Amino acid sequence: MKPKVLVLLFCPFILFGCGPKTPQPNTSLSLKQVMEWVIDPNADVVWESVKTISNAKGTTEIYPRTDAQWEAVRNSAATLMEAGNILMLEGRAKDDKQWIEYSKRLSRTAELALKATQDKNKEALFDAGGNIYNACKGCHDKYADFDKQPVK
Ligand code: HEC
Repeated sequence: MKPKVLVLLFCPFILFGCGPKTPQPNTSLSLKQVMEWVIDPNADVVWESVKTISNAKGTTEIYPRTDAQWEAVRNSAATLMEAGNILMLEGRAKDDKQWIEYSKRLSRTAELALKATQDKNKEALFDAGGNIYNACKGCHDKYADFDKQPVK
C-alpha cells in the first residue's frame, strides 16, 4: 500500500510543476569542440581502419582483423551515428532544414560503417568511410568558413 500513499502525497507536485518537461540537454561544448573532440577523432578511427600503405618494403593492407579491432571501429562508427543526433540539438543546429539534413546524413553514413563492422566487410567499411567524408564536407561547404579537408 505504501507506494499508493506516496503517489497521493506527490499528486499536488505533479499538478504544479512535476509534469513532463522538455529535457534540457547540456550543450555547453561549442560546435568546434564537438567537432574536434567528439566527431573528428572517431571519424579518424573509421578512416584509418582500412587503407593500403606502399613503401620500399612493398604494399601493406591495413584493415581490422581481430574481433577487438572490429569492435573498436564499430564503437567509433556508433559514436558518429549518435553525433549526427547531437548536432541537431537546439543550441547546436544552425537552422531547422538543411542543417538537419546534413546531420542525418552523417548518422546515415555512419550507420553504413557500423553495419560493415558487424558484417566484418572491409570493402563496405572503406566505402562507408568515403560516404562519411562527403557528409562532413557537404555541411562544411555550406556552414563552416574554412576550406580545410578534415581527412589527413
Ligand atoms: C551538420 C553540419 C556538420 C557536419 C555533418 C560536420 N561538421 Fe564539422 N564543422 C561544422 C561547422 C559549422 C564547423 C565550424 C565550427 C566553428 O568553427 O565554430 C565545423 C568544424 C569542424 C572542425 C574544426 C575545423 C577548424 O579548423 O576549425 C573539424 C575538425 C570538423 N568540423 C570535422 C568534421 C568531421 C570529421 C565531420 C564528419 C565526420 C564533420 N565535421 C561533420 C559543421 C559540420
